[in-house]
Amino acid sequence: MIIRFKLNGEEKIIDIPATKRAIDLLRENFGLLKNKASCYQGACGNCSVLIDDRIVSSCSVLAFDLRGRSVVTAEGFMKTEEYQRINHLFQKNQYDPCDFCRWGKIFAIHEFLHSEERVDGSALTHALKGNQCNCTSPTLLLSVAEQIVEAERKMNAGRQHERSARK
Ligand code: FES
Ligand code: FES
Repeated sequence: MIIRFKLNGEEKIIDIPATKRAIDLLRENFGLLKNKASCYQGACGNCSVLIDDRIVSSCSVLAFDLRGRSVVTAEGFMKTEEYQRINHLFQKNQYDPCDFCRWGKIFAIHEFLHSEERVDGSALTHALKGNQCNCTSPTLLLSVAEQIVEAERKMNAGRQHERSARK
């Protein structure tokens, strides 16, 4: 079965078996190994990617269902300025999640950033709850996520203000 989709900004066409999962396509066919697979049941968040800019557990999606869609993996997101800013605040707060849960957390923050949700603890906690992790402090993650969301929204408001001042 041949599918065409966008992967990290590039058009891809590939022949795949109908039962192949998206996470396996990304890792095995495209060598994109930063997004991991652990539970294969949609429970841990380790295989999170962005599909049409929404966070999705790629173990729960058939590769076939990627046709016509835009997929961003860790490798693609690392090239963005937004990632640099998120990573900067992770480092500044000495928050260093492992390679398994890291991307589920980053993509959850990304999705929250682009939502209309107000920055309050419960909405962010809800956004981050898809990532199983018992080894870093959830309080620190929440605090870092709040800082990221506030900094990004402040920056976007500043840019908007500049644009309207130029008109
Ligand atoms: S491997 Fe996909 S959610 Fe755990
Ligand atoms: S599972 Fe990655 S730091 Fe806890």
